[in-house]
Amino acid sequence: MTRFGIIGLGKIAGRFADDLKLHPEASLQAVASRTAKKARSFAAQYGATTSYGSYEALFKDAQVDVVYIATPNHVHYQNCMEALDAGKHVICEKPFALDAAQVRKMINKAKSKKLFLMEALWTRFIPATEKVLELIDQGAIGKTVSVRADFGFPASQDPNGRLFNKNLGGGSLLDIGIYPLYLSYLLLGRPEAIDAEATMHYTGVDSHCHIELAYSDGQTAILESTFLETTPTEAIIEGSEGGIYMHPRFHHCQAISVEKDGNLETLEIPYTGLGYYHEIDEVINCLKAGKLESEKMSHQHSQDLIGLLDAVRSLIGLRFD
Ligand SMILES: NC(=O)c1ccc[n+]([C@@H]2O[C@H](COP(=O)([O-])OP(=O)(O)OC[C@H]3O[C@@H](n4cnc5c(N)ncnc54)[C@H](OP(=O)(O)O)[C@@H]3O)[C@@H](O)[C@H]2O)c1
Repeated sequence: MTRFGIIGLGKIAGRFADDLKLHPEASLQAVASRTAKKARSFAAQYGATTSYGSYEALFKDAQVDVVYIATPNHVHYQNCMEALDAGKHVICEKPFALDAAQVRKMINKAKSKKLFLMEALWTRFIPATEKVLELIDQGAIGKTVSVRADFGFPASQDPNGRLFNKNLGGGSLLDIGIYPLYLSYLLLGRPEAIDAEATMHYTGVDSHCHIELAYSDGQTAILESTFLETTPTEAIIEGSEGGIYMHPRFHHCQAISVEKDGNLETLEIPYTGLGYYHEIDEVINCLKAGKLESEKMSHQHSQDLIGLLDAVRSLIGLRFD
């Protein structure tokens, strides 16, 4: 049994806790909030053994094997470093941290302490994503030529909420643009050239971001994220001999359509629970095998991804203190 602890008891923590219940080899050992009452109520709702009114107390709990960090972006670095310092394995929500320097220090810390560390980028572990990778690997659409992906919804424009608040590491790029960017990285690797433009909100973060990537052998990616309107939130992958359509929302899709030689086939590929089950499964399998990083969402992948986010941020003028 792998004993999980969760810190930051907001929206995503609840969804993760729901899927933990489905895994036969996972238990929710402890949860921690900045408020003891909230932690007690979350523990009662999701069946955690222990609750704490501070993250530090959970890090000291010898019964916790791995900590899931579900706090806002601006505190991922500090939370990860403290959990690792306390000797815990860590899985941390996306974006892993605010910039490449922070991610490098987190990875170095995990390596020096011989602890497992993984970015919780659930898209990588969704069965439909795995199927897309398998099909491309088998040459089902020939050579991948282009990726187009978007993610957009009209977000509540609360200047203090984590989406628009610069102090919490807000902005569409880091919150949802990371998914199209990650898909392009997963399928095409690191681009040779990056172009990006954004609409900036008065709070100083991007409310809309458009990214164009070019690769050395002519491949391209066109990516979009926005808090201003609903967009299809789909991904279209064109290959030299066909194409793959990842149905909305593409970053946790449950159906893909494959086009080849004029034939279109739709494959239904359901995930377990709310979809977080699969990243949980990866953590458990890695820990059982004594691995300190996931091969599917490796340290290098996280480093490359934050490098791309940094490059886009620099182009659109989004700087965090
Ligand atoms: N994988 C996904 O599908 C997915 C979806 C949504 C979000 N996310 C990621 O998950 C993280 C959390 O997102 P969320 O939507 O769950 O946010 P949320 O509902 O606002 O919850 C975040 C929690 O972090 C804690 N926290 C610590 N410092 C805070 C601060 N200064 N201000 C506000 N809260 C603070 C709070 O918990 P306590 O009060 O209990 O301490 C809060 O409830 C983000 O990094 C986001 O990118 C991932």
